[in-house]
Amino acid sequence: MRKTVIAGNWKMNKTIKQAVEYIEELKSRVSDVDDVEIVVFPPFTALLEMCIATDKTNISIGAQNLHWEKSGAFTGEISAEMLREVGCGYVIIGHSERRQYFGETDESVNKKIKAALKHGLIPVVCVGETLPQREEGLTEQIVEAQVKRAVDGIAQDDIAKLIVAYEPVWAIGTGKNASSDDAQQVIANIRDVLKSIAGDKADSIRILYGGSVKPDNIGGFIKEQDIDGALVGGASLNPLDFSEIITRSRGK
Ligand code: 13P
Repeated sequence: MRKTVIAGNWKMNKTIKQAVEYIEELKSRVSDVDDVEIVVFPPFTALLEMCIATDKTNISIGAQNLHWEKSGAFTGEISAEMLREVGCGYVIIGHSERRQYFGETDESVNKKIKAALKHGLIPVVCVGETLPQREEGLTEQIVEAQVKRAVDGIAQDDIAKLIVAYEPVWAIGTGKNASSDDAQQVIANIRDVLKSIAGDKADSIRILYGGSVKPDNIGGFIKEQDIDGALVGGASLNPLDFSEIITRSRGK
């Protein structure tokens, strides 16, 4: 059994004050939820307050990025150890916005995953094709290559700890979500790729869908066999919408 994960990626949004107001609202709305793993990814500046505010609750906190080195002359970067100290349990790695705007590559994704695992952070590894790639029929090929390179050189037991998010780039922030059938197909293929590398251990890996997930379309995704939850961007910024997505993901 894989526990459903609903994760909210806030991207570069919310001040500390806004984050704290949000989390109090979310806490009160989802306090009875025990069958969904709830994770919120605020910007770095709000991490500490958010970890304090969610201590001993059913909500976990993660960061949106990290650097693979432990410490040193890497201006502007934050290490896995620093994120653990703050209280993070998760970290998003390889989001398409980081690949697109900040030069993230499959190689840096792989290094970051290794650093996260070494320090006990659960990596949420993002993969997905662009619109031109989809139109050329390259979706499975692109996603397969991203997954294989992401886990290169990582032990099977560690691969089993990953969360993978399939986020087609064309569906992010566009209001154009993938159909649940299409998402299921790509995600089932990701699971096969992971099984070919990690064997039965891959059965426990949660694979999420991300891209214009909203309260009114989460139901379609969650009922698909291989979709274990969602990585939500825009709709996670509103605690009412996000709690509705969580509630509608229950009971799988
Ligand atoms: P949207 O839900 O805003 O499309 O963003 C998805 C995403 O990028 C989550 O990481």
